[in-house]
Amino acid sequence: MDFAQLKQLLEKHGQQQLIAFWNEISEDERENLASQIQKIDFNRIDELIKEYVLKKPETDIPDDLTPAPFFPLIPDNEGLKSYYEVAKQTGADIIRQGKVACLTVAGGQGTRLGFDGPKGTYPIGPVSGKSLFAYFAEGIARNQEKYSTRIPWYIMTSVVNNAQTVEFFEQNNYFGLDKQQVFFFVQGTMPAVGYDGKILLASKSSLALSPDGHGGTLWALRQSGALDKMKNEGTQFLSYFQVDNPLVAVVDPLFIGLHALEKSQMSAIMLPKTGPFEKLGNFCVSKNRTCIIEYSDLPESLAESRNPDGSLKFLAGSPAIHVISTSFIEKLTDNGKPALPWHRADKKVPFVDSNGALIKPETPNAVKLESFIFDALPLAEKTMILEADRNESFGPTKNATGVDSAESCREMLIARDKRRLKAANVDIANAEKVEIAPRIAVCDEDVEEYCRKNNISSLANMGREVYLK
Ligand code: UTP
Repeated sequence: MDFAQLKQLLEKHGQQQLIAFWNEISEDERENLASQIQKIDFNRIDELIKEYVLKKPETDIPDDLTPAPFFPLIPDNEGLKSYYEVAKQTGADIIRQGKVACLTVAGGQGTRLGFDGPKGTYPIGPVSGKSLFAYFAEGIARNQEKYSTRIPWYIMTSVVNNAQTVEFFEQNNYFGLDKQQVFFFVQGTMPAVGYDGKILLASKSSLALSPDGHGGTLWALRQSGALDKMKNEGTQFLSYFQVDNPLVAVVDPLFIGLHALEKSQMSAIMLPKTGPFEKLGNFCVSKNRTCIIEYSDLPESLAESRNPDGSLKFLAGSPAIHVISTSFIEKLTDNGKPALPWHRADKKVPFVDSNGALIKPETPNAVKLESFIFDALPLAEKTMILEADRNESFGPTKNATGVDSAESCREMLIARDKRRLKAANVDIANAEKVEIAPRIAVCDEDVEEYCRKNNISSLANMGREVYLK
């Protein structure tokens, strides 16, 4: 596309500001800008701007919402208890047969954490200071050993953090994993649009682009060749988790087994919410399909409604942990990008103004559009939801301090590891901080075995900070 064509295209869609500095930029920069512009589907963007930017979209909340059923953490009858045993076995077999891969979404910008670098490189280890990525890598390595298998790891990055992420893995020698089993793939982007409907420039020669949300995973898996690779390697199930939750079990035999036995296409872990307005998505059913209604969208009357025993009717909150069948993703992407709804986020987006000055706004000035992976749930004919213990599985590192922070996550990691040691009859003595490397233990049984084999019955004389590795 030459300059005249570019100009014509932009004028047609009222976005000519994007080439306002054409005469000031180099040949290479022009090429870059032109290629970014050509990747935009302007007809679609025009519609989205009308629908989501120029007006605040009304969220359509179905009027037939009921709470979604789930399998309880503790089976409440003998039949269910034996079903869980079978499921655990089934899951373990599936893992052993090499049919499971891990999928980590790490393409977000992590703005709330305020950390300079990809979130996965954040040093979360309470004693070791090891990174979030290291936690997952070690968990994968330990499970490979337990199940004598290979667990491929798919990591979604974005244009903003892909190079730094790959470099981090290189520098750390893939944390002992085989480089060939780690597959990075880059998610799509969406342009940030100012409140006047104009796409913003990040510099005179580049658009303000941001990752298109974790819903972008599905299409990115398809486009990057990851799905083909999975098919070739016999991967049938993806254990999906977010990069900011080091408490997650990277593979969970019970969860995977139930997913398979229930013939679910997409499954989810649920946590009982701590209160009606906890900031977790709510598992609901509408028109016979499972869906997640964001905490901000669930009508107050429903959020507060209670069962006769006082418990919340809409109890199930989502920690964004899933098992997804690869066949389901194939189906969703066979005819192009899956039609997930867009969600509007109002953000402070730095931009170049009409005078060429870089403006860093103090208040939100633009709309970013994102799609969410959980919007694939209603597209599944069959889903499965399993309750988990929050203390064992969910410590999101969203902020630096306070609620859902690096601080609270470290506290949870310490508390979990102390509990595991106590369960293994180890005297914690006066240890304040305790950390167990996932490389040696990913569950209670592992900790018990490790301590027995290494004759550890007390942490006395190990100091106040103990790191078992
Ligand atoms: P969050 O919604 O917490 O967003 O992402 P974030 O970008 O990490 O953090 P903030 O909101 O800017 O502070 C939840 C998970 O989804 C991934 C993130 O990397 C995180 O693992 N994600 C989010 C993507 O992979 N791509 C996206 O476009 C958005």
